[in-house]
Amino acid sequence: MAGGTFNIEGGGKNYEGRITLFVIFTCVVAASGGLLFGYDIGISGGVTSMEPFLSKFFPSVQKKMKNSGNGNMYCKFESQILTLFTSSLYIAALVASFFASVVTRKYGRKISMFFAGCAFLFGAILNGVANSIVLLILGRLSLGVGVGFANQAVPVYLAEMAPAKFRGALNIGFSIACTIGILVANLVNYGTSKIKSGQGWRVSLALAGVPALMMIIGSLFLPDTPNSIIARGHPHQAKKVLQKVRGTENVEEEFQDLIQASEAAKKVEHSWKTIIEPRYRPQLVICCLIPLFQQLTGINAIMFYAPVLFKTLGMGDDASLISAIITGSVNVVATIVSILTVDRLGRRVLFLEGGMQMIVCQIGVAILVGLKFGVSGVGSLTKGEADFLLFLICTYVAGFAWSWGPLGWLVPSEICPLEIRSAGQAINVSVNMLFTFVIGQVFLTMLCSMKFGLFFFFAGFVIIMTIFVAFFIPETKNIPIEEINTVWKAHWFWGKYIPDDVVIDGIHNKSKVDI
Ligand code: BGC
Repeated sequence: MAGGTFNIEGGGKNYEGRITLFVIFTCVVAASGGLLFGYDIGISGGVTSMEPFLSKFFPSVQKKMKNSGNGNMYCKFESQILTLFTSSLYIAALVASFFASVVTRKYGRKISMFFAGCAFLFGAILNGVANSIVLLILGRLSLGVGVGFANQAVPVYLAEMAPAKFRGALNIGFSIACTIGILVANLVNYGTSKIKSGQGWRVSLALAGVPALMMIIGSLFLPDTPNSIIARGHPHQAKKVLQKVRGTENVEEEFQDLIQASEAAKKVEHSWKTIIEPRYRPQLVICCLIPLFQQLTGINAIMFYAPVLFKTLGMGDDASLISAIITGSVNVVATIVSILTVDRLGRRVLFLEGGMQMIVCQIGVAILVGLKFGVSGVGSLTKGEADFLLFLICTYVAGFAWSWGPLGWLVPSEICPLEIRSAGQAINVSVNMLFTFVIGQVFLTMLCSMKFGLFFFFAGFVIIMTIFVAFFIPETKNIPIEEINTVWKAHWFWGKYIPDDVVIDGIHNKSKVDI
């Protein structure tokens, strides 16, 4: 379709434009942002299951692992400092995302993406050459700063550059790239674990530099978004960029809309103060709860620690890494299923089906592990049982990847009207990072103390969040963002928070902002 002309529909309007090289470049930036995020999620679990890595940095964990041949499997890898290696990245990302939102707004999206790429490259180099835990963790912190900046700037950049018609697809495109990043990390770990010198972990960690370079180069060549250029006071330059991006001189209508939207956004000085007004209660609650719930599904226990978990349950080195590759592949394929079905089946069907699938699988894992390892953590799995366990985990991952995985990013981004969008996005990113950190930090300790009960614990949360979706999340499929208040107004619970004056004859009168 590249180069072909068609009309672009946005909020009921038809702007002229076509798919241009710039739009294709934006996909590459999206891909590198998602890859960076995913690569980091996937790489640490494999590396922390590699013996040369453990013996260099965490000899006590390695000793415990070796000695626990007949002992408590649940506590084999328990070490606060080992988990800090994994989770430190997310605490840095959380802190960085607040700075990133200021830089992104004041100085543009491009500079934030460039900075993200540089922080990533620096972190990858530090990790690749690390000779001490301090350097290793400093490297993770620098990667975290990269994640914070990239996760804040890339989705905004995409939303503003993409023709409205492709906004949703590009949004989930970011999730797909993330799952591909996790899978690539699993494959890289498998390859590098075979390096005879025992230095494979260095290669795994240093390869994070590849998507980092993609992002640096992408952000050097790409223009900033017209919205951001207007907001910084250069409308003429913005118009030129818009013409280039849309591949046509005729952008007047869209350009005028951007100018008006920017004026309106300026009037709402405090997006943070605005979002706590009662009329935005549904968005505030949902932007806090969705990322929290997404992490309480327990997905990152699998994504971070799959090889460690499989090793804990008695699989060999190779089998553990291969199992992680299998779960990583299921994750990618099921996210594609989500893209194909989200606008036809709707968000609620995917949330509810995915949730039920996860509950059944988690209860299945808890029962199987409980029966085989009991509370003492002593036991083993037969080949058939290990295969069945892998099947349950894959089915769980599939359930997540077509529901809470992509929808956890999509839904918060589409329920907020313009005046609170930046605050809503910042809350979503930071709550997500906070709980990614918490799960990363406490999972191995919880496994040691709660044993197989940990899987019942996560199942319990998925039951709560599935009930929450059933009662409190309205369907938003095919609803233009500026008409979203009609959905809230019609809702049995949230309706009372929405003043009558923002919904006239079923059409949202653009609340406070006249865009
Ligand atoms: C989540 C990540 C998770 C990933 C797995 C994303 O939507 O935010 O925390 O690791 O899905 O694919």
